[in-house]
Amino acid sequence: MSNSNVKIFDTTLRDGEQVPGCKLNTDQKVIIAEQLDLLGVDIIEAGFPVSSPGDFKSVQEIAKMVKNATVCGLSRSVKNDIKIAAEALEFAVKPRIHTGIGTSESHIKYKFKSTQDAILERAVAAVSYAKSFVEDVEFYAEDAGRTENEYLARVCEAAIKAGATVLNIPDTTGYCLPHEYGAKIKYLKENVKDIDKAVLSCHCHNDLGLATANSIEGVINGARQIECTINGIGERAGNTALEEVVMILKQHPYLNLDTNIQTEMLYGISQLVSDSMGIYTQPNKAIVGANAFAHSSGIHQDGVIKKRETYEIINPHDVGVTESAIVLTARSGRAALAYRAKNIGYELTKLQLDEVYSNFLTFADQKKEIEDSDIHQIIETSKVYSEIISA
Ligand code: KIV
Ligand code: ZN
Repeated sequence: MSNSNVKIFDTTLRDGEQVPGCKLNTDQKVIIAEQLDLLGVDIIEAGFPVSSPGDFKSVQEIAKMVKNATVCGLSRSVKNDIKIAAEALEFAVKPRIHTGIGTSESHIKYKFKSTQDAILERAVAAVSYAKSFVEDVEFYAEDAGRTENEYLARVCEAAIKAGATVLNIPDTTGYCLPHEYGAKIKYLKENVKDIDKAVLSCHCHNDLGLATANSIEGVINGARQIECTINGIGERAGNTALEEVVMILKQHPYLNLDTNIQTEMLYGISQLVSDSMGIYTQPNKAIVGANAFAHSSGIHQDGVIKKRETYEIINPHDVGVTESAIVLTARSGRAALAYRAKNIGYELTKLQLDEVYSNFLTFADQKKEIEDSDIHQIIETSKVYSEIISA
């Protein structure tokens, strides 16, 4: 693997599925996992096996089915969680146990009523125990975003010594600013002994809308794995959106960071996850929202019709969207109307367009969006219709 390769760890089926009302059954999870495998994600976090018999079964079925990706199961730093995760992963070609514990002052003091030293010991014991089942063990320092760097570095160093192959640095509460999160990763790179024996991973939540920016800062500063979900779904305001980080790295090649994702599958898998979970994707969602490649103002439409790149930085084909949409509203101009009319078979001269456009504006002021059937009606009722069809 080249050092420019960023691994994509998809947690749609674990952190993503924690969204209230979005529970999936095993069959639905297996279908999504199959598509994630084809999409080219490097790791699929299939669930939290100890949490319920249903989740155990889902992880087990996914482990049996997945051909390429590593299949990962979550656990707390609790022996039974780790043992159950190992059992669920028994048939995986590439199994990974993801174990960890809260390291911030608030987690240590209020959640565990413990001390830094005792938590460090539990972290080491969990990694060592997980290591007795599988080679690939990822350690998460929950709430790392609010953990002081010096203690976080000590925990990471101990986890590596115990055999962790990946160190997950979650901004669990979505609190960090991008420069702070980037500096945290840089600090760990520079201060943890044997840091090159493990991959640093970004796991950012979106409470302040910064999950994507923080993950990108993380990889710029040396992390080589991003944990993310399709459509950015997840606890509260969600996780880093897979489609966003992947396309950022693709559209900015000078960063010299790439992924193994087949980007043309992004739109299809976004629809699959949204339909299966019954969770609607906001129309202005970057990359996969219904309006991500739709143009409705006259100035933008004129530019896009002349050259797509004037108002689009991504080729819609690259993410599996068939084409950019020229949406007709009362804000649209002549160029857009002529373009849409041409698409349905009317080639209008400049004078004909003037006449049809004025009828169009009257119509468009009464209706939010003009469909092809409306264009037919506008043209057929215009004074120049006989000229248009006899041309
Ligand atoms: O946000 C978080 O800290 C997590 C961990 C369990 C990895 O999801
Ligand atoms: Zn999380």
